[in-house]
Amino acid sequence: MLSRRRFVQLAAAMGASLAWGGPARASRTKWRETRAMFPEGVASGDPDPTSVILWTRRPFAAGGRQMLTLEVAEDPAFGRVVAHARAPVSAAADWTTRVLVGGLKPAHVYWYRFTDADGNGSRIGRTITAPSADDPRPVNFAFVSCQDVNEGTLNAYRRMIFEDERAAPAEQLGFILHLGDFIYEVVEYPDEVKTRYDRTIYEVARIPDGGKVGHFHFPLTVEGYRAVYKGYLADPDLQDARARWPFVAIWDNHEFSWQGWQSIQQAGGISRPGQGIKVAANQAWWEYLPSRCKKSGGASWEHFEAPAVANVEIKKWDENGLGDEPNNLIAINSLIGYRALRYGKHLDLIITDQHSYHGPDPFSDDSLNKLGDWAAYDGWFPEDLQQVLDGGRAFNGGNPPAELVFGEARIPNPRKDAPPQTILGAEQKAWLKDQLKRATATWKIWGNSQGALDERVDPQNLPAGLLAKPWPSGFVNASPNDYGCAWKERGEIYDLVRDAKITGFAIVSGDRHSFWAGYATSSLPPEKFVPVGLSFVGGSLSSAGAMEALEHRPPNKFPMRELYLVDRPGASKPDWTYNMLVKHGVRSCLEYAKSFDLKRAHAVSNPELAPHLEFIDAGGHGYSTVRLTADEMRTEFVCIPRPLTRSERADGGDLRYRVVHSAKLWRAGERPKLAQRVVEGDVGLAI
Ligand SMILES: [Fe+2]
Repeated sequence: MLSRRRFVQLAAAMGASLAWGGPARASRTKWRETRAMFPEGVASGDPDPTSVILWTRRPFAAGGRQMLTLEVAEDPAFGRVVAHARAPVSAAADWTTRVLVGGLKPAHVYWYRFTDADGNGSRIGRTITAPSADDPRPVNFAFVSCQDVNEGTLNAYRRMIFEDERAAPAEQLGFILHLGDFIYEVVEYPDEVKTRYDRTIYEVARIPDGGKVGHFHFPLTVEGYRAVYKGYLADPDLQDARARWPFVAIWDNHEFSWQGWQSIQQAGGISRPGQGIKVAANQAWWEYLPSRCKKSGGASWEHFEAPAVANVEIKKWDENGLGDEPNNLIAINSLIGYRALRYGKHLDLIITDQHSYHGPDPFSDDSLNKLGDWAAYDGWFPEDLQQVLDGGRAFNGGNPPAELVFGEARIPNPRKDAPPQTILGAEQKAWLKDQLKRATATWKIWGNSQGALDERVDPQNLPAGLLAKPWPSGFVNASPNDYGCAWKERGEIYDLVRDAKITGFAIVSGDRHSFWAGYATSSLPPEKFVPVGLSFVGGSLSSAGAMEALEHRPPNKFPMRELYLVDRPGASKPDWTYNMLVKHGVRSCLEYAKSFDLKRAHAVSNPELAPHLEFIDAGGHGYSTVRLTADEMRTEFVCIPRPLTRSERADGGDLRYRVVHSAKLWRAGERPKLAQRVVEGDVGLAI
C-alpha cells in the first residue's frame, strides 16, 4: 500500500488532483445527469492496486477556473460513496480534469461521476483497480489500436462491451491496453473528399491554424490537437468503452505526426523541425488521456505547463541516433510515455514509446535506388541487404561490408559508419532491459505500438518469366519499418530474455492494421529459428488495412496480382492470397490461384519462410483479448467485417471470425508453442 505522503507526491508529479478513499456513506450531491455539458464523457486510466486516475471535461463558455465535485462509490446508485474530491477545470487545460483517487481496495469495481456547482452531472463511469501483486486469479485484458473515426466506425468497442457485459465476473476485462493511433492527426474534411477506398469520410474536426498535405489537414498547435481529440471523443462507442473500463495507453505515430520521429514533423512529403508541435501533441495527449506518464512541466495538478521550445533543425546526432539539439530534447522529454504496470501475480506489463527516441531511418538512403529497379519487384528489397543497413557499423560484429551488392549492381554501404537502427533509443532500451530482468510476474508482456513479426516473401521461388527481371536470390522482408525489420535491436532484447532465462515473455502490438500470431525470434532460416517468446499484433479497430488498399489498387500497378488477390469463381470479393504469401510463400499462392484448393496450396508451402507465424490476416479489423493464468496465455482475436458504417445492433454487428492462440508456460530453454483453435467464422487464407 502506498503511504498517504508518497501518494501526495505521486499525484503532484503526475499533475493530478487527488482524492483519498474512506468509509462509505450515501451521496449528498445533487447530481442530475446532463451529458451535453460533459460532451467527451468520462474516463479512467492506469489502475494500480489502490489507486486510479479519473477524468472528465466540463467546458464553460467563459471565465476562469471552476470547480467540479467528484464522487467515487462502490455501487452504481452512489449509496456507498468512498471518495469525494474537488476537481478543478479551466481553459488552460481545455476544461479537462484529472483526479488520482487513492486508498481504494485492490481488484475492486468502482463507479464515479462529476457534478458542477449547479448540479449538472456527467454520466456515471465504471472503473476497476488492479489486483494486488500476490493475487493468483486469472488476468483478463484487451489490446486495441488504430481507431480512425474519420474513415470508419467503432463497432468493435460495441462488440467488446456487449460480450463483457454478458461474461462471468471472473472472465470480464480488467483494462483496455490502447496501443496507439487513438487519433489520426491527419484529418479529411467530407466537403473536400467524400470517399477513400471503401470508406465514407465522416466529419471529425476542423483544425484551426493547421497545415495541409493532399486531402489531409493536420495540427500545428495545441488547439489543433485538442480539436482532433474532441472530434474523436464525440464517438459514442469510444465514450461507452472509456466509461466502462480503465484504459492504459501509449501513443503510436499519429498522436503526433504521420511519419514523424523524435520532434521532426513528417507527413506525406512534408518534413520540418517540429519541437513546438511535439510539445503541443504531448500536451493534448496528457489533457485527454488520463495516465501516470510523467510530464516535465512541473508539479501542477491542473495544467500541462508546456515548456517553451523553438522549431530548430537538428544537425547533430549522438552515437545512438538521438538528435543532439536542446529544443529536441526538451520536446521529447516533455512527456515520458514508457512505464510499467504490475497487475496481479501473473502480469508485468512493460510499455514502450516507439517514436520519441526513434533514430534516423536506415532504409531510405537515395543511393539504394542505384542498386535495383525496385518498382519491377513491387518495392521488394532483399532481406540480407536490409540487415546490413539495420546493423550499421555494428553489423557482423563490427565488420560491416564496404559495398552492397544486388545482382550485377554494387554501391558503397551507406550505413558503414552509422549507428545501428534504434526504435527505442539508448535510454529507453536500457530501461526496458532492466524492467525485463526485474519482472517477477508469471507473464512479462511488452506492450508496444509496432509489430515485431517478420513479414517475409520468397521471390527466389518464383518461376522464370513471371517477373520482368528474375530475382537474384534470397528472401524479402516487407515489414513496415517496425520491429519486424529491427534485427539488431530486437535481437538485443531477445538475447537478454534467453540469457537471463526469462520465461513467459510475450509481445502485444498494434499499428499494422492486421492480426498476427507467432513467436519472438532473433533470426529465421537460413539462420537458426530459436523462439524465446510469443508475439502478437492486433487488427485495427477501424482504420483501413493493406487488403482494402490492395483491392483498390489499379490493375496496371499489379505486376503479380495472384500473390495478393485472386478471384475465386462465384465469389463476390477476391481471396486474400497475400496472407498465404507471407505464411506459405509464392508457390502456395500460384497453386491456389490455379486450383483454389487449400490442401494442394499448403502442400507446396515453403517451410523456411515463416516458421515464426501461426496466423496472419492482413485484412482483419477488431480487437484482441488476453487471459493469463499460472500456466497459460490465451490470446483471442475477435474479427469484425470492415467497419464502414455504425452498426445499430447492440452487439455491434456480425463477426467474421474468432480465433484463439494459447500457449502453456514454458521453462527456460524450452520453445514456446501455440495451439490454434478457430472458435467461429471463416479465417480465409490466414492459417
Ligand atoms: Fe494506425
